[in-house]
Amino acid sequence: MHVLAPSILSANFARLGEEVANVIAAGADWIHFDVMDNHYVPNLTVGPLVCEAIRPLTKAPIDVHLMVKPVDRIVPDFARAGADIITFHPEASEHVDRTLALIRESGCQAGLVFNPATPLDYLDYVLDKLDIILLMSVNPGFGGQKFIPSTLRKLARVRARIDAHQNAGGQRIRLEVDGGVKVDNIAEIARAGADAFVAGSAVFGSGRNGDRNRYDSIIGALRAELEKA
Ligand code: DX5
Ligand code: ZN
Repeated sequence: MHVLAPSILSANFARLGEEVANVIAAGADWIHFDVMDNHYVPNLTVGPLVCEAIRPLTKAPIDVHLMVKPVDRIVPDFARAGADIITFHPEASEHVDRTLALIRESGCQAGLVFNPATPLDYLDYVLDKLDIILLMSVNPGFGGQKFIPSTLRKLARVRARIDAHQNAGGQRIRLEVDGGVKVDNIAEIARAGADAFVAGSAVFGSGRNGDRNRYDSIIGALRAELEKA
């Protein structure tokens, strides 16, 4: 029930295909795919072409995290490129409800991403249209930042909301956390209510150049901590 989603942001981009294959072979569940536009966030990464290139390498879901503004133009491109999940930041879309519908109409699961200081009010109106809620535990734009502790309280609030929704017959919603997730804090984050965990530098920083054994040990260590939670 716990999902580990390594972020390729910290992978070796010169050997990206091997990195994706190795991290999945080591036991990761999803590939987290960070899309940055140097406009909504101050960094620039990869787009649908790269998603399409890694798609044939794994059956694992590709979890596309859009840090782009505007959002809608690029959604169908990612769906065609093989994305399974598409999340976006509500501040980056003029019409949040429409963007969520567009993602689902494109055949993908849809989710909202909340920055550390973004209030959860959007959930009042669109909870029934979400497959996933992603809480940022760092400010978006870069890997390797420190986990912001107030995310734990926010996670607990969202977990309570999701549980109430599901107990009342609502659809299943995953609760994902992104930023600064490591072996030494993942259990605490799980206890706060997260069930999907993005880890970039913790995973790829542990085994540069596609050293498969290194990914086995870091994925194993993260899972062992989750079992304690
Ligand atoms: C940050 C990205 C994250 C990032 C996480 O904007 O959304 O997915 O890669 O990296 P770590 O795990 O190194 O904090
Ligand atoms: Zn991300």
